[in-house]
Amino acid sequence: MDKKTVNLSDGFKGRANPKSFTKNAISGTKFTIAISSAKGGVGKSTFATNFALALKATGSKVGILDADIYGPSLPKMMSISDKPKSEDGKNMTPITQYGIQCMSIGFLVDKDTPMIWRGPMVTSAIKTFTQKVLWSDLDFIIVDMPPGTGDTQLTFAQEIKVDGAIIVSTPQEIALLDVKRGINMFDKLKVPILGLVDNMSFFETDEGKRYNIFGENGVEKVAKDYKKEFLGKIPINIDLRIAADSGIPLFEKNPDHEISKIFRKISDKIKGSFL
Ligand SMILES: Nc1ncnc2c1ncn2[C@@H]1O[C@H](COP(=O)(O)OP(=O)(O)OP(=O)(O)O)[C@@H](O)[C@H]1O
Ligand SMILES: [Mg+2]
Repeated sequence: MDKKTVNLSDGFKGRANPKSFTKNAISGTKFTIAISSAKGGVGKSTFATNFALALKATGSKVGILDADIYGPSLPKMMSISDKPKSEDGKNMTPITQYGIQCMSIGFLVDKDTPMIWRGPMVTSAIKTFTQKVLWSDLDFIIVDMPPGTGDTQLTFAQEIKVDGAIIVSTPQEIALLDVKRGINMFDKLKVPILGLVDNMSFFETDEGKRYNIFGENGVEKVAKDYKKEFLGKIPINIDLRIAADSGIPLFEKNPDHEISKIFRKISDKIKGSFL
């Protein structure tokens, strides 16, 4: 047959074969840790900010990359309203707040502007944040992932060296279904799972009575079933919520708070597995 047919079948073969990807480390950083959950609203961003500050308290240099392009939380949770500067017109300098280097799409657009973007634009924003931000000498970069198993997760898994993922969930049945999907996604993409966190685990009254609002021990059980590490329980706590809304994460406001101590314990454990 003529050359054209050969070319076509070669092209098809290329597409049918699994692609091989080159994974780049985020420039200026040693280790990348993704905070993930397949379900929305379970506390990823709250965890990411407090965990980052707890890691910083262990003496590490830490950054947070808000990878939630459609619903960035970092500007509000870390009280950042400045726009990042660029010295050379190509690279952006992250904004340092509470000693943490931060970057979010929310620093670049007005806070009430909806991000009506298709997948390829999200991928391109993620690449900019990982390659064109002047992260400086970081031990850890904490990536606050959007919910789900979509474009952002795929971009990170295929093109960026992710050293580990922490999966946050509430103990509710419906959330646990998503946790299992999340575990399977990371296993499939060969991203090591550092452990599972049970957030909004229970509510305890001032009198010490405990209510298991979303169920009991669900996350711990999934961790056991899938042979993953269980990192701990974070109860529903009003101080944690108020601090998040005030733009000063609880760990920054009060590192001695009982909830801050849980974050410190988890960060000690994670740090120990890397450094
Ligand atoms: N343990 C907790 N106790 C009390 N409030 C909490 C707790 N964890 C998170 N919250 C609150 O729950 C809400 C959702 O948390 P957060 O934004 O961190 O979730 P998310 O998983 O990042 O959501 P999204 O999927 O939209 O990114 C916030 O108002 C936060 O302050
Ligand atoms: Mg979030």
